[in-house]
Amino acid sequence: MSFNRRNLLLSGTGAAAALTLTGPTLAQNSAVQSVAATPADSAGVPNNEKKINIVTLRDLEAEAQKVMAPYGFAYASGGAGDEWTMRENKAAFDRWVINADFMNGTGSADTSTTILGNKISYPVITAPMGNQGSVHAQGDLPNVKGAAAAGTLYCVSSVAQQSLEDLAVASDGPKWFQLYIPRDRGFARELLQRAKAAGYKGLIVTADVDVTSNRERSIRLQGAALPNLSMGNVPKTPGGGGNAMDMKGDMSWADIDFARQESGLPVIIKSIMSAKQAQQALQHGVSAVWLSNHGGRQLDNSPAPMTTLPAVTAAVKGRVPIIIDGGIFRGQDVFRALALGASAVAIGRPTLYGSALGGAQGVESVHTHLKNELNMVMRLAGTPTIKNINREFVDRAEAFLAVSVVTRQSTHSA
Ligand SMILES: Cc1cc2nc3c(=O)[nH]c(=O)nc-3n(C[C@H](O)[C@H](O)[C@H](O)COP(=O)(O)O)c2cc1C
Repeated sequence: MSFNRRNLLLSGTGAAAALTLTGPTLAQNSAVQSVAATPADSAGVPNNEKKINIVTLRDLEAEAQKVMAPYGFAYASGGAGDEWTMRENKAAFDRWVINADFMNGTGSADTSTTILGNKISYPVITAPMGNQGSVHAQGDLPNVKGAAAAGTLYCVSSVAQQSLEDLAVASDGPKWFQLYIPRDRGFARELLQRAKAAGYKGLIVTADVDVTSNRERSIRLQGAALPNLSMGNVPKTPGGGGNAMDMKGDMSWADIDFARQESGLPVIIKSIMSAKQAQQALQHGVSAVWLSNHGGRQLDNSPAPMTTLPAVTAAVKGRVPIIIDGGIFRGQDVFRALALGASAVAIGRPTLYGSALGGAQGVESVHTHLKNELNMVMRLAGTPTIKNINREFVDRAEAFLAVSVVTRQSTHSA
């Protein structure tokens, strides 16, 4: 279980009085210009609903900080330990350059694709994120609705403030349910069966939260007022034990078999970090592997998904789709991940910031911006469809740096 999740949920009611937001005055030249005032609930959590104008997703974090409650911002933005992995997730993209294929007559680009049978408007889905009640007064609702409005898939976390049934019907868009396997086997079975009955199209099992991590931005805020968060998923079976926060701390491959058998849904394992783990996952019948280090929030100093992606692609050999997440902000990032073998990518924090700044419309703005940027990159690179994006479109950046050094040296000696 994550330290700040546990503390957010156990934090009780003391929040309301102490949290106040100073008015969110945006800078004149702000990239996000349409947030004039920030309605906030009694715990200081934003309750915005408006479209936001975005120049780049990279601007969102600073803008969101101006409207979010301090603990909500620390919870959303922070990583574990030194946050090396969180930074590395972003840095790893820039070790790859894009080779354009000019002059091939490509006059348009189609970003739409399919993931495990779900048609989506672009190869970017929303990662599961718990405790969104600390980000927006309506919890997951803005994020669910914004994803559907943008034509993409939403992953509901088992530690959401609303029940999995309520979130299943909150939009018409396709959804997967993400489960931290509960310690109580009966409750685990109940949740798996409820997810299937509620109409989820896939089940994500997250494997990297056996133990509390050290998210120090949140730890430093102990004692600060916290939003009063409810827990959406509690047992419905009379006498049922545990709750969604009471997670199993000793995950093993037997849990994947159990999840597959009990849910009858395609199982996607999230938190794969190596080719070896991907191969093991395939032996246990998963329908997709999701490369992730939890956005740098669990094991600090673990590698970035972009670094391990080539080896995982080679090991998986196209047998199941690969999804990656972590540090994705640009159409170029999506393009590079797909070129290295991902079928789709997931974004987390950018959607939380969209939700804080503009609710469902803000989230839709985030997806629309990224989709348009990907469309532009595809046009510039000369790729009309998602299927066309292949390994030939990327190269290690070092190779180019080495060539340019050699070229400069030879120019000098000439
Ligand atoms: C605030 C927050 C809460 C999260 N909660 C969950 C969760 O409940 N289940 C899960 O599998 N991953 C969770 N994650 C990890 C995300 O699914 C995803 O791996 C990560 O956010 C991707 O990195 P990015 O935020 O840089 O896009 C959470 C991430 C954040 C930022």
